[in-house]
Amino acid sequence: MTELGTFKNVLLSNDDGIATLTINRPKSLNALNSATLEDIGKALDVVKSHADDVKILVITGSGEKSFVAGADISQMQSMNSIEAANLSKLAHNSFEKIENLPQFTIAAINGYTLGGGLELASSCDIRVATNKAKFGQPEVTLGIIPGFGGTQRLTRLVGRGKAKEMIAMGTMIDAEEAFRIGLIEEIVEPENLVPKVKEIAKQIMKNGLIAVGMAKYVIDRGADLPLDVAIDFETQLWAETFATKDQKEGMSAFLEKRAANFQNK
Ligand code: CAA
Repeated sequence: MTELGTFKNVLLSNDDGIATLTINRPKSLNALNSATLEDIGKALDVVKSHADDVKILVITGSGEKSFVAGADISQMQSMNSIEAANLSKLAHNSFEKIENLPQFTIAAINGYTLGGGLELASSCDIRVATNKAKFGQPEVTLGIIPGFGGTQRLTRLVGRGKAKEMIAMGTMIDAEEAFRIGLIEEIVEPENLVPKVKEIAKQIMKNGLIAVGMAKYVIDRGADLPLDVAIDFETQLWAETFATKDQKEGMSAFLEKRAANFQNK
């Protein structure tokens, strides 16, 4: 395990190609203030610059109670509209970095995942949660709307009706319900969260990671395009994979009845 950088409110380490970014403000249930959002952005820059030795990024929260319980209400309470817009842009900047990383990202959800926390988790490629986790967009209970992407990313994950229901009610749903509506991909017992996330990460790492990165990119970009344009985009990236050494290795390995040894080139 190696530390990849030192930040005030975020921990970042790399363990054999699987990096973990931990939001580390357990006393306030890992609430996102501007300093933490800045740290997340800086940590993501480090992850991107280590693309040779970081293959997968896991994002999680410190402590057993909370992934992230939202934006920091004590910071927001006295903010004016300009300050609110700046905080929102800071979050968008960091969350867009997650989506644009070449590495695959997994949210390891260990507890309350509310407001900005659900918006952070929704920016990851997949979500694995414990059966104790609770999810919600409670912004309207505070007299505001989701401002870190929740009206858009939650809607794209669960559909307009469910997103409107969750946002308008402002109540929490449990992990079973989150799984049922497609908000999370896996539910595990708390002690199995880290092993399950590692199992998924290791399975992905056996594959051609240029191909994994391209698939992630075209799925995300294509989702907002007309189908025919998105299909053309897929053809373009599919053709590009044939210019990689990984494609030669993957297909040769199949024909030679051996495991592929991808170099990510
Ligand atoms: N901001 C700041 N502090 C927070 C916080 C938040 N979002 N969530 C929890 N905390 C703090 C609490 O104030 C408390 O601090 P003190 O010990 O100093 O009093 C500490 O964390 C522990 O929290 P609780 O005592 O409330 O713990 P609990 O077990 O009774 O309740 C909870 C847990 C249900 C998650 C509750 O803390 C809660 O409802 N938190 C707020 C959730 C919320 O509304 N999130 C949305 C924020 S708005 C947003 O995110 C906007 C956006 O779109 C970006």
